[in-house]
Amino acid sequence: MKNIYLLLIIAMFTFVSCKNDNQESFDKPTNNEVTKKISGQELFEGEGNCIACHKPDQKIIGPSLQEIAKIYKEKNASIVLFLKEESDPIIDPSQYDIMKTNFAITKSMSDDQLKALEDYIYTFSK
Ligand code: HEC
Repeated sequence: MKNIYLLLIIAMFTFVSCKNDNQESFDKPTNNEVTKKISGQELFEGEGNCIACHKPDQKIIGPSLQEIAKIYKEKNASIVLFLKEESDPIIDPSQYDIMKTNFAITKSMSDDQLKALEDYIYTFSK
């Protein structure tokens, strides 16, 4: 009957270690509790890699951020909708096919992330 004692010991040990885990999460705040502000710039230069084709003040492969911000403001259009492929290109439709390849990334982003990208682009309007 030694096995029963062994099982009891294991059960107790498991119980104790679970309890410790819970205790810990009560003591210190976890990262989940701190809502991080999404940085549009980080998304633009990191995850989205938009910077490869869009520079602040000069056209390279894609239009400059100044131009995008200016025209979207003037037309009161939504960059978020564009990045969800729910509105048509208004700046350079002839090059739209190149931009389209990015929708796989932007469509996997949350609305908050897309809004952060939009806000970031708008910081370049003069
Ligand atoms: C491979 C190059 C490339 C990358 C990477 C790229 N773009 Fe573009 N983008 C373009 C080109 C070319 C155009 C011009 C075609 C057009 O207007 O749709 C464009 C146009 C745009 C426009 C204007 C759309 C309009 O109304 O005409 C926005 C806004 C935009 N890009 C945002 C982004 C964002 C945000 C990212 C990152 C998630 C990104 N782009 C990544 C090439 C790129």
